[in-house]
Amino acid sequence: MTRPLRAVIHLAALAHNLNIARKLAPHSKLMAVVKADAYGHGLVGAVQGLQAADGFALLTTDQAIHLREMGVDKPLCLLEGFFEPYELTVLAGYGVAAALHSETQLRILESTRFKGPLDVWVKLDTGMHRIGFSPTAVTDVVQRLLVLDNVRLIGFMSHLANADQQGDPATPKQLDQFINACSVYTEPKSLANSAGVVAWPDTHLDWVRPGIMLYGSSPVDAKSAQELGLQPTMDLDSALISIKSLSRGDSVGYGGTWVCPQDMRIGVVAGGYGDGYPRHAPHGTPLLVNGRAAPLVGRVSMDMMTVDLSQHDDAQVGDPVRLWGQGLDIDAIAKKAGTIAYELMCGVTARVPRVYRDHGS
Ligand SMILES: Cc1ncc(COP(=O)(O)O)c(C=O)c1O
Repeated sequence: MTRPLRAVIHLAALAHNLNIARKLAPHSKLMAVVKADAYGHGLVGAVQGLQAADGFALLTTDQAIHLREMGVDKPLCLLEGFFEPYELTVLAGYGVAAALHSETQLRILESTRFKGPLDVWVKLDTGMHRIGFSPTAVTDVVQRLLVLDNVRLIGFMSHLANADQQGDPATPKQLDQFINACSVYTEPKSLANSAGVVAWPDTHLDWVRPGIMLYGSSPVDAKSAQELGLQPTMDLDSALISIKSLSRGDSVGYGGTWVCPQDMRIGVVAGGYGDGYPRHAPHGTPLLVNGRAAPLVGRVSMDMMTVDLSQHDDAQVGDPVRLWGQGLDIDAIAKKAGTIAYELMCGVTARVPRVYRDHGS
């Protein structure tokens, strides 16, 4: 028997969630964000589930080449663009677009001899204050790009900082800044992340760039994934590998932070922070043992965690345990652990096998 922990990825759920994003933004093209190994789902597999997207956004040249070599011929865009001059010829050769966000990148474009055409999206900083040109620099940036024969300006993008918060004035302000800065140009515009897709229709523009909602997590504070009709795309599944009968007063795990309040059975689950399960998940965080809720007890260790089986008299070694997924909302687990579903999904480590399923079978 192999170690039972695995991340089961549901391709049909990815396709379903993409369809929800499409319905919410029916007049926009959709660039599915598949950076961070498709939010931990595995790039190659996830792209199969998301094949109805109009394009894909990722982070590195290697990943983009990987998709091209797999036969993906849709538009690809690197959200942070290129880092080194040598990448320009490679990106142009593979037909991969780059976000252009800084003076440093612009100088690399101007000073490097490379075979184009390289497609670029000019990225503006409209309020996130992370990467992007100031809206006041747009005219100058565009003029400098237009004189470069091997560069093709294909669009303008910016990124929303607070769209997850309903009614936050920062979002309309960012939209205004963006539109004011680039409405004179006819090239496509892109602003909305998942929260923009769900809650801010005015931000949809020509291309939306959803990530997290495609993976079945709610991008907004006000509504759950279920309320949005999103389906979980990753089940983190394991099994009981040991059961201990303990006495009242026995402590469990590192530091003895949890003490049995009565004589009881404790289950040991294969799965710990070495797999990406959050070490800070507190006592009481739910797991599903044989499909029924059971609380985590004791500290999560690197390879194992422990679960209270006092309501599960029939549980046996080998029985299935779900850590998150269908029936156990990843957003709820993230909240318990003081984090967000993005971090949980991206944090599933390489040692956890990804298993791909279609149609929930
Ligand atoms: C530039 C950019 N666009 C879109 C996204 C997708 O965001 P979300 O996963 O919140 O939909 C991200 C993710 O961080 C991003 O960095």
